[in-house]
Amino acid sequence: MLTFHPVEHQKQARKRIAVIPGDGIGKEVIPQAVKVMQASGATLDFTEFDWGADRYLRDQTTVPPDGFAMLARDFDAILVGAFGDPRVKSNIHAKEILLGMRFKMDLYANVRPVRLLDAALCPLKGVEPKDVDFVVVRENTEGVYTDAGGVFKQGTPDEIATQEDINTRKGVERIIRYAFEYCKAHQKHDGSPRTKVLMCDKSNAMTHAGELWQRTFKEVSAEYTQITSQHMYVDALCMQMIRDPRQFDVIVTNNMFGDIITDLAAGLQGGLGMAASGNIHPGRTGMFEPVHGSAPPIAGKNVANPFGAILTAAMMLRHLEFTNEADKIEAAVLEAVRQGKTTEDIGGKLGTREAGEWIARNMSS
Ligand code: NAI
Ligand code: MG
Repeated sequence: MLTFHPVEHQKQARKRIAVIPGDGIGKEVIPQAVKVMQASGATLDFTEFDWGADRYLRDQTTVPPDGFAMLARDFDAILVGAFGDPRVKSNIHAKEILLGMRFKMDLYANVRPVRLLDAALCPLKGVEPKDVDFVVVRENTEGVYTDAGGVFKQGTPDEIATQEDINTRKGVERIIRYAFEYCKAHQKHDGSPRTKVLMCDKSNAMTHAGELWQRTFKEVSAEYTQITSQHMYVDALCMQMIRDPRQFDVIVTNNMFGDIITDLAAGLQGGLGMAASGNIHPGRTGMFEPVHGSAPPIAGKNVANPFGAILTAAMMLRHLEFTNEADKIEAAVLEAVRQGKTTEDIGGKLGTREAGEWIARNMSS
């Protein structure tokens, strides 16, 4: 006999969230994101970790033994602020914590939605929210970020430094495939389907890696006949992104170009304070972080924009299938932007805490 337990069925399982605020403004924006998630009604248990510059300076720990395995085992998702502190010149803690999570947990897809909430936030003339709604899928485990390379004759006039660009067939193929699958599965915010995947590289100059990306893109795109595949060199893409952002839908690219073009893209959205991202390996514990860094010059002043972190929290909730809660948070951020209930970087008068509180109080149930 078919048994159906509506109450059981509707009850959403509690999800366990690891929270790592990190350094600088990370410590200010992440508490706002947590507050907003709590107010959203999502059934979440938060556990905070003190990984970051203070801990490193205190006891030389960057990541405790078993740290990454513990995150993967004990949590459904990780919310991270930012790492980077002028007192740690080597930036070793940032490298070990942030790149450690990306590399050791193999979170190969860095997904960065680029969405304009209000025309007033865009530095371009005549650009409306509907015109800026694309996603950058950045390869997150290879490229020039693997720290392969070396120096020779350092400090002499004959000094040589090399930085290797690592591109594996497996790594390139899985990120390109991820971009096509993302395109298939996600709509634009106006409800229309996503239809195009653009691969961005510099294959005219970086011929060896470029050839691998080009060939793999061609092979994988042949499996997705409903999706239009396009290509642009990264320099041309930068120009087009500010000439006409309407043309973009899903962009897939390597680690470094993804890093660079998403700062440019953040400019279209109102700046770094507005940009969200997720580090994802389907089926594994994902890590979600605002695109911005620790911004030492503005840290500790209650001026950092918490919306990038709050929109990141919404992205994380959507990933965990708390769709209603994610919708509520995004709607409240949109309303805040419309009413000017924001921090100064995007034209309002509120502090970090006050902007976070406004969102937490103004979510319709
Ligand atoms: P950044 O993103 O920290 O800040 C650049 C500038 O953008 C800031 O000075 C500020 O004027 C503005 N800004 C950034 N976020 C903002 C926010 N939420 N609200 C208002 N304004 C905001 O990049 P920067 O200066 O290149 O790096 C600072 C430190 O952060 C470095 O140590 C760097 O290595 C680290 N970093 C860490 C990242 C991460 O943990 N994912 C990413 C980028 C940088
Ligand atoms: Mg960056």
